[in-house]
Amino acid sequence: MTRPTAPPARRRNRYELLGLDPAANPVLEAIAAHASCRAYRPDPLPEGTVERLAVAAQSAPTSSNLQAYSIVVVQDPARKRRLYELCGEQPMILDAPLFLVFCPDLRRLEYVCRRQGHRFGAGSLDMFLVATVDAALAAQNAALAAEAMGLGTCMVGAIRERPREVIDLLALPPGVYALVGLCVGYPAARGEVKPRLPLSAVLHRETYSDRHLDTAVAEYDRLMAAAGIYGGRQVPAPGGQVRPEQASYGWAEHTARRLAAARRRELRSVLEAHGWCLT
Ligand SMILES: Cc1cc2nc3c(=O)[nH]c(=O)nc-3n(C[C@H](O)[C@H](O)[C@H](O)COP(=O)(O)O)c2cc1C
Repeated sequence: MTRPTAPPARRRNRYELLGLDPAANPVLEAIAAHASCRAYRPDPLPEGTVERLAVAAQSAPTSSNLQAYSIVVVQDPARKRRLYELCGEQPMILDAPLFLVFCPDLRRLEYVCRRQGHRFGAGSLDMFLVATVDAALAAQNAALAAEAMGLGTCMVGAIRERPREVIDLLALPPGVYALVGLCVGYPAARGEVKPRLPLSAVLHRETYSDRHLDTAVAEYDRLMAAAGIYGGRQVPAPGGQVRPEQASYGWAEHTARRLAAARRRELRSVLEAHGWCLT
């Protein structure tokens, strides 16, 4: 007699973690079951995957329909290896068969102005934000689409570690920069669905209030420390000094250590030299 094979374990989603009802809505369940994937199988992706993801990315809302971003598809192993080096040697970039780079892009809009005989006078901090938000929304839509196709994803903000070299490697023209990368591939291992901060910390009704901040952070800190999420990946204490109150290493200590110093400070000068107005 053959034993029935067990159905694949259903991933817990964040509605369940909070005891809330996703109303049996598969889209909500998929959104709330997101977990970054940092280990990929080398298996090739189905034909048409890039285009499917790109259409999902393009389906995101976009400020004034400007569509101020481009997506660079990187699959060449040598170029992926160089990106791996430029992004602080995160192995998932080598493993994932597909790496998408989401780039805020004013170049196309400058072209449109030229084409129509107008000058492009829109360069400003707000235009930088418009293009950056557009690119981020597109990246998130692509990630959700990939996850809906059974693929794993991980965003890579480390693409901004060495912005000038990335501009050269991807031949990004002035007015185009690399905001975030997205690893895509079949998961070799599924990441845990990480709890998020309690709603009381992020959800404000009518006006902003810090009323629940202390308890919410303490609760989340305990939850994350107990989940063992930081085992083997603690950020070194600034100055190497560990005070007694830092002995329990949870979300608060991890986050505070990460934020103890500014990062990627050269980004501003690289972007300004590359056609972006940040004032
Ligand atoms: C803009 C952005 C950049 C990120 N950059 C990196 C990165 O460079 N390396 C990495 O391992 N994860 C990166 N991540 C993934 C986050 O670490 C991850 O989303 C976060 O820890 C929450 O975990 P979860 O996605 O599994 O829920 C990034 C996520 C975002 C949204």
